[in-house]
Formats: sequence, C-alpha cells, structure tokens
Amino acid sequence: MDAIRVRGQRQLHGTIPVGGAKNAALPILCATLLSDGTSHLKNVPGLRDINTTAELLGVLGRKTSVQIPEVTVGPSTGAFVEAPYELVRQMRASVLVLGPLLARHGKAKVSLPGGCAIGARPVDQHLKGLEALGATIRVEHGYIEAEAPRLRGAEIVFDLPTVTGTENIMMAAALAKGRSTLVNCAREPEVEELGRVLNKMGAKVDGAGTSVIHITGADELAPFEHAVIADRIEAGTFMAAVGLAGGSILLEHAPIDDLEPVIVKLRKAGLTIEREGDGARVERLGPLLPVDVTTAPHPGFPTDMQAQFMALMTLAGGRSVLTETIFENRFMHVPELSRMGARIETRHNTALVEGVKGLSGASVMATDLRASASLVIAGLVAEGETIVRRVYHLDRGYESIEKKLGRAGADIERISLEGP
Ligand code: EPU
Repeated sequence: MDAIRVRGQRQLHGTIPVGGAKNAALPILCATLLSDGTSHLKNVPGLRDINTTAELLGVLGRKTSVQIPEVTVGPSTGAFVEAPYELVRQMRASVLVLGPLLARHGKAKVSLPGGCAIGARPVDQHLKGLEALGATIRVEHGYIEAEAPRLRGAEIVFDLPTVTGTENIMMAAALAKGRSTLVNCAREPEVEELGRVLNKMGAKVDGAGTSVIHITGADELAPFEHAVIADRIEAGTFMAAVGLAGGSILLEHAPIDDLEPVIVKLRKAGLTIEREGDGARVERLGPLLPVDVTTAPHPGFPTDMQAQFMALMTLAGGRSVLTETIFENRFMHVPELSRMGARIETRHNTALVEGVKGLSGASVMATDLRASASLVIAGLVAEGETIVRRVYHLDRGYESIEKKLGRAGADIERISLEGP
C-alpha cells in the first residue's frame, strides 16, 4: 500500500501550480449527460474521483476518455439510467447524475450514497427539489428511483444551502419545461461555474453564485467545451503548507478572489499573501499567531480547509478555537495531529488548539481527504520522519501532492509499505 513519507523542517521555495477544481469538474462532467453530443473539458485535475466519474459515465453509455488535463465525453449510446452502488459508494458526488438522467431520460435509478467518514450526509434536499419539479421518487433496496415524463419549472426553497443539492437541481431545471426559482442556494464558486456551463449549453441560468437562482429550461441542450476553474482548496492547502514550513512560494493560478474567506484568516495568522501574475505570492516571515475559525457555507470559511488550518494552529503562539458547523464528524485529524505532539482538545464541534513549540514526525493516517492533507503539511514542519498512510484518500483530491511539494524543496516521496 502506498504512503507518503515526509522528512520535515525544510522551507518551501519556488513555484507550485494549482490545478483544476475537483468539486467544479465533477458536476460539469455530470452535466455532459444533459446533451447527446461530445463534450470536451480542459484543466481537469488528475484525480481518482475524476476516473471514478469517467467510469460512471461509461456505465451510463458515454465513452469517456481521460487524458489529463483533458477529458472528452463521447456521444450518447442509449438511455442507460442506472448508477450502481459499486461506483456511488466510492464517491458520493456520483449522486450528481440523478438530476441530469431524470431530466433527459424521464427516469433514473441511482444508489443512495449513504453516510461517510465525515458525517451522515443525507440527500433529502436533492429529492425534495426533484419532487417539486414533478418527479415521483421512491427509495427502495438502497436505490433512489425517480420518474417524470417531463420535469416542470417550480419554486424550490432549500432548507439549508447544499452544494451538490443546488447543482443537482440546477441541472434538472435546465431541461425542465418553464422557469424555476431556487432559493437559499449554495453560493460556492463551483456552483457559479456550473451555471456558466449550463448557459454555454443553452439553458438560461441567472444568479448562480448567489442565494437565489432563476433558470429557464430548454427543450434540448448542446454539448460544450470548457476549461475548469482553479481549485481554491488545493491552493488554500499550499498556503497553509507555506505557513507551516516557512519560505516563499508563487502559487500559479491560485484563485485569490474565491479564497478571500481563507486568506483573511491566514493573514491574521501571520502569512503574507499578495496577488502576483495570475496567482499569489505566499510567505511567512514572522511567528504564527492564533486565530479562531468557524466553518460556514461560502462566503464563510470552508469546511474543506478546517483540517489544514488546524494543522497551522498547532504551532501558533497561543490558543485558537476551531468550530466545525457543516459536518458532524470532521475532526479525524485531531488524534493523528496529537500523535505528532499537537495539543488539541475537542468538545462537541469545537477544537481548542494550544500552540506548541514544535511537532515531531510520526506514523499517521486519516480516513478523509482533507484530514490526510493536514497530516502531510504538518509533516513538512515536524522534526524527523512522518509517514502518512492510506494515501488513496489524498489521491481523491490532490494531484501529485508529493511532486508539487517536492519540487518546491520539501523532502517528500511516495513509498510502498508492506501490508494493509
Ligand atoms: N445536507 C442535508 N441534506 C441534503 C444535503 C446536504 O442535510 O440533502 C447537509 C449536509 O449533511 C451538510 C450540509 O448540508 O451538513 C452541507 O452539505 P453539502 O450538501 O453542501 O455538501 P456536499 O454537496 O455533499 C460538497 C463538496 C464537499 C464539501 C461540501 C461543503 C462536492 C463534490 N463536495 O459536498 O467536498 O465539503 O460541499 O462545502 O462538491 C471535499 O472536497 O473534501 C469535500 C468533502
């Protein structure tokens, strides 16, 4: 089994390129199902989740060729409408095929994603939205079965902002008859990006990226070409890495505007972050300072950066309080960071981090993508050797993290370990 080995206490210097955004690419790949023809994506990151989605599109009758950084989704070869458990269980975002399949074929059968390591993650808002558009939905034998001869525009008020829920309903509404109004939508940049793609396809989407989205559906949508936006979470992870390791990095293509909520906190923690070229120059010159953070839907502080920010706070000069409000079980990095010498106490959804003088390398692992990333960046500053196991979590969301950090001066490599 692969692991990442980091030998710590080396500063980062040079340039790190930020790739395309995983959480933008996944819904866009699912949006290809809304049209018959061949669609072409550029700036797609080389990740396990992209391969899983390509496999799923293949099962749904669309021959998909992945040649990173490009993906081509071929023409429809029939009305294949079932997303099997085997693929959905590997990646919850597979539920994003539900809206497109139902809207285009009048029916869909998609495995219920179930919970995952970070929380229960229900999909009730997705189902409620589709029902409002006229679908009949049954949940049986672990599958969502949805039917509707033709979806009809409706007003939908989400009970809470959900990223993939908003995206699923946007895609369904794009092929529904008439106009839909979606209220209390997720405002993440990835939702805005999907709105741009649906407009390219011929739908009329107005307000994506705000909490109210108006969509006028089309009878048919066209295939498209699109270059995916840069990954704000990958960029934020490298910023936190510089905060821990020290040094000066030019983060090429870093989407600095999308990262504002994170950058505000990183600056308070003592980092210097300035726009440079199409990215950002990141440095840490002085000591790390403690900063409190509460995760919230965009434009709040993203839950996907909470673990990496906590790693940073383990070395701040004082106590910081980190509160997780999105997912109920997203502190899996805490016991592992503690094994590296961090002082963290958790109470319900709050972590109290008491900064320490230094971390020490250890063998660690986590069962969540962002938790794993936090352990890698903690390893960059720890004394001695850190082995991060279960690298397949990292491979879901970070393209060649060891190569990108290695080229910037980190002593890091992928190794093979005996046994599980
Ligand atoms: N929720 C419901 N009902 C629903 C949908 C969501 O109660 O029908 C709750 C969730 O349980 C959670 C909150 O709403 O408490 C927000 O969840 P959301 O639906 O926004 O999350 P998601 O769409 O499943 C996406 C990202 C996650 C990211 C979250 C929050 C994708 C493919 N995934 O998930 O990314 O953490 O939004 O920003 O876009 C990651 O990349 O590591 C990752 C987990």
